Amino acid sequence: MNLEVFLGKSRFRNPLVLASGTFGYGLTYTDVIDRVGAFVTKGITVQERVGNPPPRIWDTKETVVNSVGLENVGLKRFKEEILPEIDISTPLYVNLAGVTIDDFRILIEGLRDEEKVEGFELNLSCPNVKEGGAALGQSADRVRKVASLARSLTTKSIWVKLTSNFCDVRETAAAAADAGADAVVIVNTLNALIIDLANRKPFLGGGSGGLSGPAIKPHVLYMVHQVSKQVDIPVIASGGAGCGTDVVEYLLAGASLVQIGSINLVDPQASLRILKGLEGWLKREGIVCVSELIGRLEGI
Ligand SMILES: Cc1cc2nc3c(=O)[nH]c(=O)nc-3n(C[C@H](O)[C@H](O)[C@H](O)COP(=O)(O)O)c2cc1C
Repeated sequence: MNLEVFLGKSRFRNPLVLASGTFGYGLTYTDVIDRVGAFVTKGITVQERVGNPPPRIWDTKETVVNSVGLENVGLKRFKEEILPEIDISTPLYVNLAGVTIDDFRILIEGLRDEEKVEGFELNLSCPNVKEGGAALGQSADRVRKVASLARSLTTKSIWVKLTSNFCDVRETAAAAADAGADAVVIVNTLNALIIDLANRKPFLGGGSGGLSGPAIKPHVLYMVHQVSKQVDIPVIASGGAGCGTDVVEYLLAGASLVQIGSINLVDPQASLRILKGLEGWLKREGIVCVSELIGRLEGI
């Protein structure tokens, strides 16, 4: 059985990608990382960030709402302390979280000569940071500017991670494709509010948060399908995947790779189970090559 997927020149051993913010920096559970197609780090900002006050997570079986607020070590510490320690055989993508377009220049210039880095995922969509990413990802014009700048600065892969909050993700995806991005990631968390009724206040320390987990999968499937019809670059799905057949559904809807996110918070080994489920399904269906499934949804 062939699980390989190619995105342009890049080869992935299988379609699973560990999603940003749900698997740390790649220093732990390296046995899991070494079995998936690609690994994306926690979002890195120019300066170190302490993130939002607690509570930062609200969850049920079907949903997670997080308000981490991009806590991270910042560019300098990532480069000097973390990157040298990362020892994985899987393509490493660094999630870059710029507050301004110029932040993306600083982040890419700081990391583009690092051999260990296969590519960058531009986070234009995090809804947690009041002054940050969401605003960039909500306008096709700004997406084009950031993606063009990134393209002019590096030949490494550029994935543009988009939002579907308050914008038309088909338009922003088309702008990213025009600007020369290698792929678009659909989508980051959806805006969400949890109310602490007893106190008549938001539950999360950061006020609002970002919704993820199984509850968002139908929405993200729809968006992946819409975007894959709109652009001619690969689409990477990110939203609630938790088993092998979720991955199959995303591939059929038009995704080339599928990110595994919130489920890692419950079980860091989840990807191995998902991979097994995917292999089992392919075997039962007599499908030899996983890439045959991409975009093969019928009747819509
Ligand atoms: C706790 C948490 C932290 C996250 N941090 C980031 C981040 O730093 N950068 C980013 O682009 N996405 C971040 N995300 C979004 C995930 O990468 C993913 O796109 C989203 O959760 C949807 O996928 P899922 O439903 O499989 O979790 C985070 C998600 C969670 C739950």
